[in-house]
Parts: sequence; C-alpha cells; structure tokens
Amino acid sequence: MMKIGALSLKNNLFMAPMAGITDLAFRIVVRSFGASLCYSEMISANGLIRSTPRSFRYMESSSEDRPLAVQLFGSEPDILAKAAMIADESGADLIDINMGCPVKKVIRTGSGAFLMKDPQRVAAIVRALRHATSRPLTIKIRSGWSPASINAVEIARLAESEGADAVAVHPRTALQRYSGRADWGVIKDVKKAVSVPVIGSGDLWRPEDVTGMQDMTGCDAVMIARGSLGNPWIFQKALSSGSSGFSLSSPLPCEREETVRRHLELAITFRGEKMGMLNFRKHLLWYTKGLPGGARFRKSVMEVKDKKAILEALREFIYSGEPDAPGG
Ligand SMILES: Cc1cc2nc3c(=O)[nH]c(=O)nc-3n(C[C@H](O)[C@H](O)[C@H](O)COP(=O)(O)O)c2cc1C
Repeated sequence: MMKIGALSLKNNLFMAPMAGITDLAFRIVVRSFGASLCYSEMISANGLIRSTPRSFRYMESSSEDRPLAVQLFGSEPDILAKAAMIADESGADLIDINMGCPVKKVIRTGSGAFLMKDPQRVAAIVRALRHATSRPLTIKIRSGWSPASINAVEIARLAESEGADAVAVHPRTALQRYSGRADWGVIKDVKKAVSVPVIGSGDLWRPEDVTGMQDMTGCDAVMIARGSLGNPWIFQKALSSGSSGFSLSSPLPCEREETVRRHLELAITFRGEKMGMLNFRKHLLWYTKGLPGGARFRKSVMEVKDKKAILEALREFIYSGEPDAPGG
C-alpha cells in the first residue's frame, strides 16, 4: 500500500508513461500482472483545450483501467491548468506534468524537458495546476538539461513547495535522451530533499532491478518503462520476487500465447480491427524478440493483416519445438 495525495495504491510498482505505447489495451494487460498505477501517453494541453480527437482518445479509459494517471505536456501555466480541469472532469485519478520529454518537436514548444531549464516556470505551472484541480498532482522530471545543469533536486523542492503530491525522476539528462545509464544517485538525492513520495524511473530491465533501485535510492515507488515491452510479466515477477523469491523464469508458452492473444483482442476492441492490428504490430515484435525462431516468425507475419492468421501463426511459433504442446 502507498498513497499519493489522497489516492491509495495497492502497491508501489507503476507502469511509466510511454508515448505510442501505453494505450488502454496495454495498460489493461500490465494491470492484470499487478501494476497498481498506469499513466496515459503524454497528452498535449493545447490539444485538449482545442478538443482535438486525438487528445481525447489518449484519455479514453475503462473501469478495468483504474487508477489512471493522465500525463499532460505544455509550457503555459494557464493552458496546462485548463487542460488539467478537463482531465479532472473526465475522471483522471491523478494528473502528471511531463517535464522530461527530450523530443525536438516537444522541446521546441518550451514543453517537456525544456522546462528543466526554467525552474520559475515549473513553480508557476505547479501553482496554477494546484489551484485548478484537487486531484493528486505530480511532475515527471529528468536529472537536468545537461550534465552541467543537474537540477532535479531544485526542481523537486520547488514543485513540493507549490503543492505537488509526488515527483517522478528519470535520472538521465535531456541531452542524453535514452542513451547511457540512468544515474540512480540523482533519485537518492531527490528522495533526501523532499518529503512527498519519490517515484524512480530508469533502467528497470529485470525484476531484480526494482528492488535494486529501491534499496539504493530509498524511493517510494518505481515505474517500469522499456523493461515491460513484450514483457508485461515483469510486474508480476518483481512483485513476487520481493516477497517469496518466486521463480524469475520466462512465462510458460501457454501464458505467453494467452497474453499476446488477449492484448491483441483488447487492441481491436478499442481501436477497431484495422488500427488495432496496426498498433499491435510493434508489440508483437517485442513479444517475440529474443525467442528462438523469432526473426523468422516476424518476417513471416509482416504482411499478414488478418487477426485469425496472426493468432494461428503465433500459436505455431510459440509451440514449435515444444514437446508438451497441448492438443498436439
Ligand atoms: C518509446 C518511449 C516513449 C516514452 N514516452 C514518455 C512519455 O510520453 N512521457 C514521459 O514522461 N516519459 C516517457 N518516456 C520515458 C519513460 O517513462 C521512462 O522514464 C524512461 O524510458 C526511463 O525508463 P527505462 O530506462 O526503464 O526505459 C518514454 C520512453 C520511451 C522509451
């Protein structure tokens, strides 16, 4: 159990926001393996207040998809505040501001990690949102803009003093993007500096990294990002390895098949057959990465657009070479 503001969460293992990836279907899958909080993809505050269909689609949720953190990006306090009110009315359980995205398109507008360069703007944004919503309010930051300007502690302190309920830290610099190692020492520094919960992110590839980060940094919760691609079981394994030292082995073929199938069905339910299949393709590649014969399988399904054919090919691939394949 842990709390962010008034929001109670059943454990401290979260699914990190990933644009283009953490849609409703994937969130439901990782929740079934124990993730207690999932984040939406980042949503443009401007887009929300202009009611663009895409922004609203990113907020789509369901009763199984709770509690949901809605992540907004923007640079203007008043626009972000209005967008937060819209997210609040649409039922977001928590509102998070993206201060870590290093993508050019986002940086150019003064949003995302660009905000790390402007602590006073960060303060003004948190203040404006604090007035606009009573939902739990968090920010997700990087360690700083560049190695010469590591300021996560300063930004976290400012956000706390303006009323943020937690701070998530991905301790790479904006210039580093996703390369190199995440410097968990920065998470530790932030944890020492603030009294609101600190959520750690960065290089949680294996279940045991979760305990590793918690032990090293003292952070209150962690969020898994790339380590969950094609591997939603990581949540279950991290949760059980903490308590019982339960098996850390790969999922059984039948578990793998069942999960991939369920993920595809959900993608189609929420997006329709065409978009659902298209969106699912990258997940299918991740689900089969590193498995024997994976490359051949991926090549063979590249052009397949029919759900039934994909599921049949998947089944054959997963059970090929399996002496215990059920039903022959
Ligand atoms: C493809 C991709 C998309 C991402 N999109 C977002 C995003 O929309 N908002 C955000 O705050 N972080 C985003 N992130 C960053 C992750 O949430 C996470 O902090 C980062 O990947 C570090 O964790 P990892 O090293 O375990 O992957 C994204 C990362 C990846 C790889």
